[in-house]
Amino acid sequence: MTKLVTGGTGLVGREVGRQLVARGEDVVLFDINPRGELWTDIKDKVKFVRGDLGNWSSVLNVVHDYKPESIFHLGSMLSVPSDADPWACYKTNVNGMMYVLEAARLFDVRKVIFSSSQAVLLCPEVPDVATDFTVQRPRMMYGVAKVFAELLGRFYNTRFGLDFRAVRYDTVIGPGVKTMGVDQCFPWSIEHAIKGEPFDVWVPEDTRIGVTYFKDAARALIDIHDAPKENIKTMCYNIVGSSLTAKEFVDAVKKHIPGAEIGVKLSPEVLKIMGKGMPKVEDSMARKEWGWHINYPLDRMIDDFVEEFTNKKELYE
Ligand SMILES: NC(=O)c1ccc[n+]([C@@H]2O[C@H](COP(=O)([O-])OP(=O)(O)OC[C@H]3O[C@@H](n4cnc5c(N)ncnc54)[C@H](O)[C@@H]3O)[C@@H](O)[C@H]2O)c1
Repeated sequence: MTKLVTGGTGLVGREVGRQLVARGEDVVLFDINPRGELWTDIKDKVKFVRGDLGNWSSVLNVVHDYKPESIFHLGSMLSVPSDADPWACYKTNVNGMMYVLEAARLFDVRKVIFSSSQAVLLCPEVPDVATDFTVQRPRMMYGVAKVFAELLGRFYNTRFGLDFRAVRYDTVIGPGVKTMGVDQCFPWSIEHAIKGEPFDVWVPEDTRIGVTYFKDAARALIDIHDAPKENIKTMCYNIVGSSLTAKEFVDAVKKHIPGAEIGVKLSPEVLKIMGKGMPKVEDSMARKEWGWHINYPLDRMIDDFVEEFTNKKELYE
């Protein structure tokens, strides 16, 4: 049975593709940007369809043509570009969500698995500890679009019986990312350190961050997809990888890569988006209902990142 992955050539999307291929699934990657050099390892094992989520016909066609059993919907503009161009974000992230859900309804797709974000919690009234039931009133366009997408997925579940499931990532860390995001300074600090280049992170040292390795982020979507339906009660779940401060992250990188030169140079643009920053996020429902866990705690994550970036240069340069 075919699995369709939107945003399929992105950091998490292509890893979802790899993990699905590894267990023998037929996989279709759908993306506006082919980025063929980043997934040469699975090139012969997946189909790729180039298309725009903001174009109804593109979404309808790929679902019509491949009749997937499930859709992993990861295609999205990320945080900083979304706030720079909220109209483009509306088209991709809001209309795109509607098109994916509507195509799923029309062509009897069984499940839609969605990658939301803890950016939904970036608002002044958020409490110090946030659960899956905490109010979500983000001020940034990216967060607004994610809240809409979660709610629309719930609506399709209630109204049409679509099996919709979502995770809210913290910061996903992985090699080879070129797109800007508020937390992108963390993986880029590792890449620059490997290359022997100085780098500045752009948030204050005491900023609290949650980081999930891209391999865990991809596996989370497959695990929630596979979970028995009766276990999925909360439907949209926070998941947290390693919770630490920016300084603790940088210190860990310096420990793993001796000689790493990582400083701090604050970015007013990012700080404006982040406001007072993230609360401590709680993910007990994901752990309880479908067994969320990480395989890559901080030290293992940095080791694996270094190995990936060093030994698979062709995928990440
Ligand atoms: N990276 C993170 O820290 C993070 C954190 C929280 C949530 N998420 C979510 O996880 C998902 C995957 O993120 P990622 O880190 O792999 O990001 P990414 O930018 O690597 O991947 C997103 C993909 O969506 C594609 N895309 C953008 N606009 C499109 C359009 N109009 N039509 C078709 N495809 C389009 C991009 O080309 C890209 O390949 C996204 O939904 C993102 O919002 C990511």
